[in-house]
Amino acid sequence: MTDPIYPARPRPGSIDAAEYDRRYAAAARDPEGYWREAAGCLDWARPFTTVKDTSFAEADFRIRWYGDGTVNLSANCLDRHLATRGDQVAIVWEGDEPGDGARVTYRELHALVCRFANVLKDHGVRKGDRVTLYLPMIVEAAVAMLACARIGAIHSVVFGGFSPDSLANRIQDCDSRLVVTADEGCRGGKRVPLKANVDKALAHCPSVETVIVVRRTGAEVPMTEGRDVPYDAAMAAAASDCAPEPVGAEDPLFILYTSGSTGKPKGVLHTTGGYGVWAATTFRDVFDWREGDVFWCTADVGWVTGHSYVVYGPLLNGATTVMFDGVPNYPDHGRFWETIARLGVTLFYTAPTAIRALMREGDSWVERHDRSSLRLLGSVGEPINPEAWDWYHRVVGERRCPIVDTWWQTETGGILIAPLPYATDLKPGSATRPLPGVLPQLVDAEGRVLEGATEGNLVIADSWPGQMRTVWNDHARFFQTYFSTYPGKYFTGDGCRRDADGYYWITGRVDDVINVSGHRMGTAEVESALVAHAKVAEAAVVGMPHEVKGQGIYAYVTLNAGEEPSDGLRGELRQWVRSEIGPIASPDAIQFAPALPKTRSGKIMRRILRKIAEGDTGNLGDVSTLADPAVVETLVRERVG
Ligand code: PRX
Repeated sequence: MTDPIYPARPRPGSIDAAEYDRRYAAAARDPEGYWREAAGCLDWARPFTTVKDTSFAEADFRIRWYGDGTVNLSANCLDRHLATRGDQVAIVWEGDEPGDGARVTYRELHALVCRFANVLKDHGVRKGDRVTLYLPMIVEAAVAMLACARIGAIHSVVFGGFSPDSLANRIQDCDSRLVVTADEGCRGGKRVPLKANVDKALAHCPSVETVIVVRRTGAEVPMTEGRDVPYDAAMAAAASDCAPEPVGAEDPLFILYTSGSTGKPKGVLHTTGGYGVWAATTFRDVFDWREGDVFWCTADVGWVTGHSYVVYGPLLNGATTVMFDGVPNYPDHGRFWETIARLGVTLFYTAPTAIRALMREGDSWVERHDRSSLRLLGSVGEPINPEAWDWYHRVVGERRCPIVDTWWQTETGGILIAPLPYATDLKPGSATRPLPGVLPQLVDAEGRVLEGATEGNLVIADSWPGQMRTVWNDHARFFQTYFSTYPGKYFTGDGCRRDADGYYWITGRVDDVINVSGHRMGTAEVESALVAHAKVAEAAVVGMPHEVKGQGIYAYVTLNAGEEPSDGLRGELRQWVRSEIGPIASPDAIQFAPALPKTRSGKIMRRILRKIAEGDTGNLGDVSTLADPAVVETLVRERVG
């Protein structure tokens, strides 16, 4: 069966197919020259003379781009736009309640950022210090990020849905001395006790000296004398001008924690110059941004998508970006489309899980709102199934709007594989082709490069400017995780198929990472949360197919001797995981297992657990190496779902 193709419709002034081919070839032939020119998208304080200085080989492993240049991304997002677009709206803030919003111009945003940069300095934050942000999707989140960038401090944004424990781990790992939070968040009409969570977390975080508290709902929250500072008062007391600090291209910009297949979440570190070039150019080219566009990426700044495509990518280009503090189904299932109509959104970027959830509610929620402003739709975070793609294209985009299915990762800094909307013929479910400068390869388990139409593990053969530089405090883990499996190559952790046209189709993770509603979750993290419960002896967690979330969390739990399985205990364990990690980690299915299938050497056979969770029990493969094959029969018989 051949896949349907939606031919690209060229647009005057946009990159067309020939131009894509030209750029791709140019970047492959002469990466130095290509990226030297591309870096012109930023104003450099001190121009760089070297461009690419990278090697993925163990002996001389290094990743440096534009290493001797200096550039401040806050100045690039703000100051350089003041002369030409000071009165243009930079951020449209859309609150949880429709129409509860604000518009902040570039001039206003610049003033806020300068002031907040001084607040940080007044509290002793210096270049290189870490600042943790635990905030709702409010303008102050962007202000705080850009204020850090302005003074060369490193921001670490922690998603507001994470638990106090998760927050504490992330603060401790990078030794933040200052935390910015809000009294409460509002999501879907419910309050989120952000400040209370911070208070709980800080009981275990001696490094933190200051907590700045933004007023979001106005709730009364306890303030700790000598530590907690109201944002408004601090802003009022701060000076209004603040020159941007010269920042080296390879100085850190931010840390963002993400889940891996083992251990605790790791602090992905991005630096300034290369990340800035990547965020700016991918935003400009993949979304084909033009003057007058209103860009809405629905992601939270707690994830990398929010960093690169709510804040840095749009603002570096002088775009108008929407920050959304709500959810897709509040107050009703038409929220996205009603907001698009009201704000005149032209470019819209969201996740397949949201598309699938809304698709289930029927077309009328979409059709009752005017979508004529829309010109382009984007998808990110997980594979988009062709049915959801088709609905997005036909119903939401009225068959007018190209869809850019963008594949990338926290580690990659920005989009690596995606169509250019007016150049690339689209195939529903495929992220299509690599951007110029990106060299994907498919390899087999032994690392042999596979050619032509094939399927394998996705690696990237050479560095690109937006790539992460290290795992905070653990450079050895960085090398080990990404460069040791296939020596000389960056291993993505994804499986992928390539068709005869050279199109890439991501098939999902090949490691113990699962993707729940576009959020990355390490199965090991959920397991360690479960075994921390007093009644649990052992746990194994795998992904299972889920109609809306893409993948759901399936947990096998062995109780301590004397504990009885019950629905009540199931609920208790779910609640436990929510409070240990956060609601996004709550298991969708919990199966009480008298024992887990293990090899004679004691290794859990996850392959079998995955099959049972998927309901694919007719084909469990070889179970003869198990210490006790009878365990499997029990698991199959008692499967939940
Ligand atoms: O498995 C891939 C999937 O999400 C993973 C990266 O997750 P995270 O670092 O949280 O970043 C998400 C936002 C960029 C990838 O390894 N993924 C992301 N985008 C796509 C995707 N899978 C298929 N198609 C995509 N467009």
